[in-house]
Amino acid sequence: MAGSADTLFMPITNGEIPLGEGQWLYLGARAIDGGFPDELRAALVCEQSMRGAYLDLQMRGMNVSPRVDNTDRFSGALILIGKHRGENETMIARASNMVSAGAPILIAGDKTSGVAPLRKRIAAFAEIDGSLAKYHATVFWLRNSVDFASHFSSAKTSPQGYQTSAGMFSAEKIDKGSALLAEHLDENIRGDIADFGAGWGYLSAELLNRFSPRTVHLYEAHCASLEAAKENLSDYDKGQISYYWHDLTREAVGKKFDWIIMNPPFHEGRKTEPQLGVQFIEVAARSLKPKGGLLMVANVTLPYEKTLQQNFSKVNQLARRDGFKLLKAQL
Ligand SMILES: C[S@@+](CC[C@H](N)C(=O)[O-])C[C@H]1O[C@@H](n2cnc3c(N)ncnc32)[C@H](O)[C@@H]1O
Repeated sequence: MAGSADTLFMPITNGEIPLGEGQWLYLGARAIDGGFPDELRAALVCEQSMRGAYLDLQMRGMNVSPRVDNTDRFSGALILIGKHRGENETMIARASNMVSAGAPILIAGDKTSGVAPLRKRIAAFAEIDGSLAKYHATVFWLRNSVDFASHFSSAKTSPQGYQTSAGMFSAEKIDKGSALLAEHLDENIRGDIADFGAGWGYLSAELLNRFSPRTVHLYEAHCASLEAAKENLSDYDKGQISYYWHDLTREAVGKKFDWIIMNPPFHEGRKTEPQLGVQFIEVAARSLKPKGGLLMVANVTLPYEKTLQQNFSKVNQLARRDGFKLLKAQL
């Protein structure tokens, strides 16, 4: 179904903005409904940190990487915004530094992404050249002529001195569910351990700080979070830590662990998606050694017990606090 990515390209495909020569930067890149026409495929340099969307673009033959180097000069930029204001503003400021002066910058998002207030904020300090709405989304565009970074507030706190950035899970404070899980880590969680959906590494850091597991394996779909985890765990790393930029719902794990710890994702965009957590539980059950165990935390409203009982022989609720439940399951 067509959506905001299709809307983003409309000013180019309808001839309002010429593609011209040279390459275009595409941040927050996602595939479009009918596939990219050849001229766009040749012109676009795509950035996508989420593994699933990255794989979709790669399968379509697009030039895509999780992070595009800041030093390049592009003839224009396309930005598909998401739900995090700070992350959106960071993308726009980065794009502005990477395209030539006066080059077009197109910004699009669906109705729920905050594209309308974003446009209003930008219109207060820069001239908007045009906009159009289609597929429940809006695109607006302008020339690269202002220092965006100086207009966006960048005040941000990082939890407990860890390295995080806007758009990552619990970028500003430790999640209460993750804290509950961390409190229940003990010396019995040992051997080869995987942290599923590891984010910027909070749970692994708690584990490594207090215990000495043989190996720790962090699986995370968001590349920027995983890179932050490498920084955050560098003091503990004696060669026993491995990092995987990995979509657990699409890619095989291919290893077996004694324990898996996780605070699984339950949102895709703004929608609650309990199915994501269900898939995480099923993958966890397949990725444990015989007698292996899973320690997971979830919002009390999420119905994971049935899936746990179907996949494990013993399931216990260890704690309940702040709207979260801590569940332990053993094969
Ligand atoms: C609720 S957060 C937990 C993060 C971290 N473990 C913590 O406790 O702070 C879930 C994490 O799963 C990641 N994630 C989402 N979908 C994923 C997938 N398909 N495969 C792997 N990781 C995924 C998200 O990027 C996010 O960092």
